[in-house]
Amino acid sequence: MVARVIAKELRANPNLVLGLATGGTMESVYKLLVEMHRTEGLDFSLCRTFNLDEYVGLPPDNEGSYRFYMNHHLFHHVNIDLRNTHVPDGMASDLAASCRQYEETIVKMGGIDLQLLGIGRDGHIGFNEPLSALRSRTRAKALSPATIAQNVRYFDGDRSRMPKRALTMGVGTILDSKRCIMLAIGEEKADVIAKAVEGPITGMISASALQLHSHCTIVVDGDASLKLKEVDYYRWIFDNEPEWQEFHKPHA
Ligand code: PGA
Repeated sequence: MVARVIAKELRANPNLVLGLATGGTMESVYKLLVEMHRTEGLDFSLCRTFNLDEYVGLPPDNEGSYRFYMNHHLFHHVNIDLRNTHVPDGMASDLAASCRQYEETIVKMGGIDLQLLGIGRDGHIGFNEPLSALRSRTRAKALSPATIAQNVRYFDGDRSRMPKRALTMGVGTILDSKRCIMLAIGEEKADVIAKAVEGPITGMISASALQLHSHCTIVVDGDASLKLKEVDYYRWIFDNEPEWQEFHKPHA
């Protein structure tokens, strides 16, 4: 369904400015987008992209870097112009200046039309770890122990190889997107999804700030929805809002 929303927005606006996320959850989304490019001619030639985050100190050819991830899972398999793809530069000699420039480039492109998001077990969106300011902008952040435990698998389980800092769009940057869609899959996300959706807005759970967003959709599978109290109400909205009618078809 997330891939279908992206495809619909891209078809309606071929110049779409797309905010992209990484992580295990997104792999299925990118697989479907690649399939839609191959079978339905989904066209990325004019699309511009901005990734949420990148590790500090990893060059683009390092398999743990998010530039490598994006090339591997999406960019090399669709007709996107790599010059239109932006990932924060974790190798920049002046990280703060590079972050400022990232924000300026987003503004120059007209802002992010559709921001894709995952959620960390500690509630992060991007790498906005607990206590990130709700108005924060792109900057360097120290990764939380929970994030290091979650992502060390991408570094063969070797903590010494995993960077301890990353550049990330801020919560404020994400809230400035015109639309955002967050995807969570699996029981290990059930607790944090319940906190983000039904709990108070708090800097301790960055994703809870999405309650302030004017057009945000959260998509969960059955396992990730297990701790939500108001599932019947969410289902009712999905069944009755015209926006979602076309997504009722199986496999949409
Ligand atoms: P995951 O990461 O998809 O690998 O669970 C999501 C995130 O940490 O934002």
